[in-house]
Amino acid sequence: MSLDNLQKIRENFIKEIEEVKDLSLLEKIRVKYLGRKSELIDILSSLKNLSIEERRETGVKANELRKELADLIREKTEDLHYKYSLIQPSLDITKPGKKAEAGHLHLLTKVEEEIKQIFLSMNFSVIEGPEVEDEYHNFDALNIPINHPAREMWDTFWLLRNQKEIRNPKSEIRKSEKLLLRTHTSPVQIRYMEKHNPPFQIIVPGRVFRYEATDASHEINFYQVEGLMVGKNVSLANFKFVIEEFFKKFFKNQKIEFRFRPSYFPFVEPGLEVDIRLDKKSQWLEVMGAGMVHRNVFDAVRYNPNEWQGFAFGMGTDRLAMIKYKIPDIRLFYSGDLKFIKQF
Ligand code: PHE
Repeated sequence: MSLDNLQKIRENFIKEIEEVKDLSLLEKIRVKYLGRKSELIDILSSLKNLSIEERRETGVKANELRKELADLIREKTEDLHYKYSLIQPSLDITKPGKKAEAGHLHLLTKVEEEIKQIFLSMNFSVIEGPEVEDEYHNFDALNIPINHPAREMWDTFWLLRNQKEIRNPKSEIRKSEKLLLRTHTSPVQIRYMEKHNPPFQIIVPGRVFRYEATDASHEINFYQVEGLMVGKNVSLANFKFVIEEFFKKFFKNQKIEFRFRPSYFPFVEPGLEVDIRLDKKSQWLEVMGAGMVHRNVFDAVRYNPNEWQGFAFGMGTDRLAMIKYKIPDIRLFYSGDLKFIKQF
């Protein structure tokens, strides 16, 4: 009779365990078939009531069955653990850690920083000025009077209508306080000279604005680095040395060629432009305007033009970054496209 029971227990067990899909159900089955109150354990503990012969036969079979069921449960447990691990990502503590993503400086900021470091190493000071500028500093004091055709060199964002224009009674130059977004960093030359006496050498990195259509090489805002060196004997020869020294450091191992070409800016005389190229086959690229400070500019800041002379230059930070890092379109700097930004 017990032998039949064992057979039935086995059959039921196998039917139930085949359908089990999670560990908590499996545990219920284990309790049902192998727990203290299970039929099988009952049979095992009542063996002592049987005759020796029956006891031997049933005892061996019941113990075998107990072992078999225990084995099947262990197998099934492992099985379910394995399947579970395929769904749930496992924790592998030997894997290298995930790097927390941190932001970094924009390429233009890095290039500006590089430029600053090179000029600092040549004993220049770094000065800043306002992005919202007045007409006087952006134009008049730089020898660009109102109605002068040279004003057309800079398409300007004017900020407000009907602003005041103030005449300085002591000077011929009218001091207009009409506000605009500075079209170049040159007004900071004026602001610096109004407050400091020569000799000195400064650079002025900063953002400038032009009211014009955008294309691959034009943006409505971009960055410049202005330079100004004033002393008793500062000449174009000094400018040439400083600027060649700068380019050699900026373009490190790349061999570059320079070309100084006569040009016109109202605040310098003579005026020139500097072109560079990376090799004989490529095109000349204009990277800066420069020249000897015009005496009208010295007049505006009450320096004696017979005593002091100096050179000034203004270069395009974006332009230099584009050449150095081979970037085809200036608009990429301002697009906010992470695929672009993350490359540098
Ligand atoms: N300010 C001029 C520009 O933006 C560049 C320049 C600076 C030219 C200094 C000469 C001297 O076009």
